[in-house]
Amino acid sequence: MLRIKNLVKSFDGERRRRSRAGGDTGRDRERVYAVNDISFEVEDGELFTLLGPSGCGKTTTLRSIAGLERPDSGTIEVGGRTLFAAAGRGRPVNVPANERGLGMVFQSYAIWPHMTVFDNVAFPLQVRRRGQRPGKKEIGERVHRVLSTMELDDYADRQATKLSGGQQQRLALARALIIEPPLLLLDEPLSNLDAKLRESLRYELKRLQRDLGITSVYVTHDQTEALVLSTSVAVMRHGDVVQLGRPREIYENPNCRFVAEFIGTSNFIAGEVVARDGERYTVKTDDGQLVLDSSAAMPTGTEVVVSIRPEAVEVGRTSRAGEVPNEWTGKVLTRAFLGEAVDHVVGVGRHEIRARGNPDVSIAPGTEVYLRLDPAKLALVPVD
Ligand SMILES: Nc1ncnc2c1ncn2[C@@H]1O[C@H](COP(=O)(O)OP(=O)(O)O)[C@@H](O)[C@H]1O
Ligand SMILES: [Mg+2]
Repeated sequence: MLRIKNLVKSFDGERRRRSRAGGDTGRDRERVYAVNDISFEVEDGELFTLLGPSGCGKTTTLRSIAGLERPDSGTIEVGGRTLFAAAGRGRPVNVPANERGLGMVFQSYAIWPHMTVFDNVAFPLQVRRRGQRPGKKEIGERVHRVLSTMELDDYADRQATKLSGGQQQRLALARALIIEPPLLLLDEPLSNLDAKLRESLRYELKRLQRDLGITSVYVTHDQTEALVLSTSVAVMRHGDVVQLGRPREIYENPNCRFVAEFIGTSNFIAGEVVARDGERYTVKTDDGQLVLDSSAAMPTGTEVVVSIRPEAVEVGRTSRAGEVPNEWTGKVLTRAFLGEAVDHVVGVGRHEIRARGNPDVSIAPGTEVYLRLDPAKLALVPVD
């Protein structure tokens, strides 16, 4: 459906010049590579998310697809149609934004304040050239269909500005959907909403996506949002895609420390691979050995970091050594009640290990405890 190949986009930027003593002596111009040679494909019906911290190049990628930025090089294809191709072997192509026929929703709702809800949604059809413009009756029917999908049909005659924030964002979505775009582009569409509304709209978007089967590219810096909504996630850093996969794959098998840290929380323990039998690794650390399963290819002798999700750590008052691998002893330093879970921070040698578990198990600080680390839930990442 969408195919991005070797996309590069740089901007003219500035860099502070520093004297030897560290003082600021002015500014140099330099190229900022907002998107630095990325490639990915999105299948029909997918909700594909670009996830990463602020400034990593998400918006630039999306705007390049939309035709709002002109990339330096690479190609962009939607449904087999080339929308952009830099001059190279063939002749260059750059289809103007308004001829790409894509739907777009941005963080700022960008609805037309002086129009009613109905007119906001009808507008993209009404401004079409004669011949491509549907008749008045058909426009009316299509608008009502989209408004009812977005549960806004009761508000058709209301002034757009008289809607709540969540309704305005649903209106922006309705307006993007009315043209029945082959591809929908969403840039942090929920970021301006408060936490509760954001969560409910998240599920609403997921339902819409499933029911309508719209292919979408979704941009967010919010990892939970990405995990909930996406069929695939591309984690971006400094203009690169560092890992691409299903949400669960990325969460359970981060390929580097950056991804493990950015998506959820992790404990990191440095060590060295001392034995390997297929996917079963034994890693020596300062605080003892760990066995774990990983599909990473790390030969014996490699310095590694073991990434341990807090929910992969079980805390107990009694030992089960002999029954289970990876039992360490430590002392509870702090605990925090989170409602649906309890976090314990346990001191083990030099390390502090965060464990998350059932709220029924709550152990007071100072208590000696046993930590059990599930080999299937530990990930090996390279030292960076
Ligand atoms: N119009 C521009 N001019 C100069 N630099 C830009 C411009 N747009 C984006 N950048 C730079 O490109 C990088 C990526 O920006 P952006 O794509 O907006 O990131 P994100 O959406 O992931 O926060 C940033 O360093 C940003 O400052
Ligand atoms: Mg952005």
